[in-house]
Amino acid sequence: MTVPYSPGLEGVVAAQTEISEVDGQNGRLIYRGGYLIQELAERSYEEVAYLLLHGEPADAVQLADFKGKLAAACALNAASSAALSGLPLDADPMDALRTMISAQGAAPDCPKPDLQAAIAATAVTPTAVAAFYRHQRGQEPVAPRPELGHAANFLYMLDGREPDADRVRYLQTYLVLLADHGLNASTFTARVVASTGTDLWSAVVAAIGALKGPAHGGAAAAAMNMIERVGGPESAERFVIDALDRKERLMGFGHRVYRTYDPRARILRDLCKEANRHFYDVASRVEEVALRELVARHPERPNATNVDYYSAGILAAAGFPTEFFACVFAASRMAGWTAHVLEYMTKDGRIIRPASEWTGPDPSKRAAVTA
Ligand code: ACO
Repeated sequence: MTVPYSPGLEGVVAAQTEISEVDGQNGRLIYRGGYLIQELAERSYEEVAYLLLHGEPADAVQLADFKGKLAAACALNAASSAALSGLPLDADPMDALRTMISAQGAAPDCPKPDLQAAIAATAVTPTAVAAFYRHQRGQEPVAPRPELGHAANFLYMLDGREPDADRVRYLQTYLVLLADHGLNASTFTARVVASTGTDLWSAVVAAIGALKGPAHGGAAAAAMNMIERVGGPESAERFVIDALDRKERLMGFGHRVYRTYDPRARILRDLCKEANRHFYDVASRVEEVALRELVARHPERPNATNVDYYSAGILAAAGFPTEFFACVFAASRMAGWTAHVLEYMTKDGRIIRPASEWTGPDPSKRAAVTA
């Protein structure tokens, strides 16, 4: 059976999954077990990672056990510590993370993906991000204190100080909301790599590479840069119209699946009002003009606010510099990526190998090869 070529694979069903569902028509995001994202927004990252990896909510004993496993796996090993010390100070943090996670997973053979590897990758990613943050500042890594909780420990490892409760809440909300999102580009990448029968670390390293792009996980940093260029609410109208007239993309808007406001963006917008007022004041005015103009210019395909837009304000309020936003995204999505890898291995396992359409010359009609 041949299916017609679809640029960007739009509309192609390339997986069956119960990890999460993006219901673009109704603006719903459903996590494993049938939970709407709004129901989980105030849960801990550990609870949500457990849910994605196991398929059902943890009871108190299971959660304590899971936290213990995360704690046991959150330190950098010798290989990733050595990789860290070899990284140039001006490396893109996503390149640093990709390198360190690759080193962390280096093994003499090709182990089959399993839950232990999934937990290990999820546990160590914040440690790697924080260690590179400090490396760039000429500082030694801070040893993790997992008893603080996943989000608080992430912030603690940046500067060695226990973070205040509000910063932890901002980060925790972000980590929970971004933990999975259907068959997005980086998750698809992880599933393709896993389908070859390789190890879990190879799959998530590839996913980090896919997430880095400005059309995907790089969009929150680009949104922050855009809001800084706008400066104040009074400049929003001119900025948006000029940018769209120049055919530029407004960062933090548009989505392949959502035709409505991204439900995660709505939660982060409300939080941003409290967490980062200056960002909110400029961003909400830009958003007002952008939504009006995007619909006017493409009524058949209305583009709305996506999760990355208000993520920028939240991640800044949590204490991350702009160039680290995509790494925090990766730290969140690691639970989703690894859950997808495990699901693929257990439920499908067939190598992902689509077809291509030949657009080159017909061999019988091309000129003869001359010696
Ligand atoms: N700003 C302005 N116009 C846009 C935007 C935008 N953000 N997004 C889409 N459009 C326009 C396109 O230019 C296109 O118009 P044209 O045909 O006149 O050129 C039309 O809407 C359709 O867009 P597509 O390119 O078909 O949308 P696609 O589904 O391929 O891309 C994407 C989706 C990559 C998210 C796109 O909307 C975009 O580049 N947005 C900005 C980057 C961003 O915010 N990415 C984060 C996505 S969410 C995530 O990864 C976590």
